[in-house]
Amino acid sequence: MRAGDTPTGEATLLIVGLGMIGGSLAAALKANGYAGRILACDRDRDEIATGLELGVIDEGGGELAPLVARSDIIVLAVPVLAMKQVFAQLSPLIDEQILTDVGSTKRRVCDAAREAFGHLPANFVPGHPIAGSEKSGVAAANPALYRHHKVILTPEADTAPTAVAAVRALWQRCGADVLEMPVDRHDQVLARTSHLPHLLAFSLVDTLARQDERLEIFRYAAGGFRDFTRIAGSDPVMWRDIFTANRGALLAALDDFEAGLARLRTAIEQGDSDAMLGTFDRASHARHYFETLLNQTSYQTMEARQVQYRVSPGGSVSGRIRVPGDKSISHRSIMLGALASGVTEVKGFLEGEDSLATLQAFRDMGVAIEGPHQGRVTIHGVGLHGLKKPAGPIYVGNSGTAMRLFAGLLAGQAFDTELTGDASLTKRPMARVADPLRLMGAKIDTAEGGRPPLKIHGGQPLKGIHYDMPMASAQVKSCLLLAGLYAEGETRVREPAPTRDHTERMLNGFGYKVVRDGDLATLQGGGELTSAPIDVPSDISSATFFLVAAAITPGSDLVLEHVGVNPTRIGVINILKAMGADLRLENPREVGGEPVADLHIRYAPLKGIDIPVDQVPLAIDEFPALFVAAANAEGTTRLRGAEELRVKESDRIQAMADGLTILGVETTVYEDGIDVVGRAGDGASYGGGQVDSLGDHRIAMAFTVAASRASEPVVIDDCANVATSFPGFVALANKVGLELTEAST
Ligand code: S3P
Repeated sequence: MRAGDTPTGEATLLIVGLGMIGGSLAAALKANGYAGRILACDRDRDEIATGLELGVIDEGGGELAPLVARSDIIVLAVPVLAMKQVFAQLSPLIDEQILTDVGSTKRRVCDAAREAFGHLPANFVPGHPIAGSEKSGVAAANPALYRHHKVILTPEADTAPTAVAAVRALWQRCGADVLEMPVDRHDQVLARTSHLPHLLAFSLVDTLARQDERLEIFRYAAGGFRDFTRIAGSDPVMWRDIFTANRGALLAALDDFEAGLARLRTAIEQGDSDAMLGTFDRASHARHYFETLLNQTSYQTMEARQVQYRVSPGGSVSGRIRVPGDKSISHRSIMLGALASGVTEVKGFLEGEDSLATLQAFRDMGVAIEGPHQGRVTIHGVGLHGLKKPAGPIYVGNSGTAMRLFAGLLAGQAFDTELTGDASLTKRPMARVADPLRLMGAKIDTAEGGRPPLKIHGGQPLKGIHYDMPMASAQVKSCLLLAGLYAEGETRVREPAPTRDHTERMLNGFGYKVVRDGDLATLQGGGELTSAPIDVPSDISSATFFLVAAAITPGSDLVLEHVGVNPTRIGVINILKAMGADLRLENPREVGGEPVADLHIRYAPLKGIDIPVDQVPLAIDEFPALFVAAANAEGTTRLRGAEELRVKESDRIQAMADGLTILGVETTVYEDGIDVVGRAGDGASYGGGQVDSLGDHRIAMAFTVAASRASEPVVIDDCANVATSFPGFVALANKVGLELTEAST
């Protein structure tokens, strides 16, 4: 039945060659509600039978002609070298059908089509899904195979746009990202990114196997060998065909590779440590960058990833844990380490998306950074004037801290830069830094309403200013102090209330004097930073979720080790204690200029309080979790003077009020705060339900914690950004006794 005849109007699809690739296309379409019929042609009757049995196809057979006659779109999913023969069979049968293929080399396929048809048919759209598996056959069909994978189409100038649109729509239906490029470009790209690595893997395994007939050596081969050679297990015939079909581009890629290998060989022979490090360093950064893209953990793709948490009520929270490193200090460690002279060793670095973006930004500006490896990072500082112009915009993801601190330090550079971020960051106010930086002489363009992106014009002489901050913001203060390093004279920043002082502490630790006089921080431009080791304590903001979980859940007894308890960060401790929490600081010590302690918390009934206004900046990131504590207290908790919460990763007053309302907690929202009516009592405090974190990591984690006292499960949407500040949150939450599962689409 042709599309016009079908009740749904969707095209009838014919897959020629029902293997894993063709079968996965059929399975993906079915899984995504494709209503057109899916036919398959394969000489192997068993494959057709399996396809029918699995329900991925509606009909199939071994004869092309009758199936072609009833189809609208034909997808050739046969090996590249078999295409020629299939085109020859199709040529007399084809009428108005749209034709596409999945071959991994495109020049060869196009030549075969030209030969069979006498020209390249206007309805033929060459295509290549960049996805695969070592498995074969329709039994291995995977409906998710193409989701978030790329499909490259290589239409020629005279390919019909309607045909391109139809094929594009088909792949998009499977969740793929479709892009177009010229045939030869495709073949060159694939030769380098796919064909060459397969060739090398085959060659390496074969070379080693030949040297060791009994394959004895493989017994000792560990992770490196396994990782490098996995793809040598792929189908030999298929790869023989691909290498044959893409001979020219593959040989060119091999030449480049051999030249690179020869350079490395010389470096090793001559003991040229700089050349080796240079190559490995570049490769390691590039690999890291690819990985974020490939694993879809990079910001660009993270926004497309949907993560949902489902948390069951009950349980208690116990054990001894260490939460990841402090986000604020991690950002600053990379920034100051890069601007120092000498090598800075960092321990406890937060390997979260936000701080990794900062690290990548400095690599993009020419700073050699080793790691992170289990929280260890080595930064080869380039000095205050050693940064290089990055090739493109600096992408800081979700991080307001990064964007504002970068704005200050980039304003002092000799080159132009552009700072961009994700959708959430793009809504956040940047005039608070752009305005005072302009007073210092910086030239900065913002988007409308003072929003990102920020275009910073380099080469502007800066002069120190005295700035009375209109809001209590550590980010604004730090931004101006960093710009002050490059300014002539003194930069003085007055804060209306104390805010975190990590920048001042770390600058002093790097030998750059910042004078603190009451509410005023002052530094003199034109100095130098000298590298110093940094030990990043655990983040009190991350610890907070577990502090609150233990504080509200009967039977809890939890120790959080090595938490940073800088006096400008301990608002949460003061507030929880005022609410009646059984919370003790044990083993207090100082590590690398920052106070640290183990936090020991046991369940105790909480009572509602009026939160002292002076605690607000000291607990600014902890309020989502503190509202959950308030919901479990006896009486009402009142917060005022916290309008800054409205311009964080989300409007945290509204986001929390909305979610709490869904659970059945009464709140009253004010411009600068909220009242939360506590629901303490025996048993559950409130109900369950589905809440939206609005992509804000702290809202997601706050509702996770809230679930322990709900009567029904709590489902939380849009949680991917938890990775910005708290990698491993789900595992750690389960370890201490919360029941949290994560589903990703
Ligand atoms: C931070 C300062 C605070 C805080 C943010 C981190 C910092 O922002 O909310 O998560 O590292 O300086 P403001 O300075 O805007 O209050």
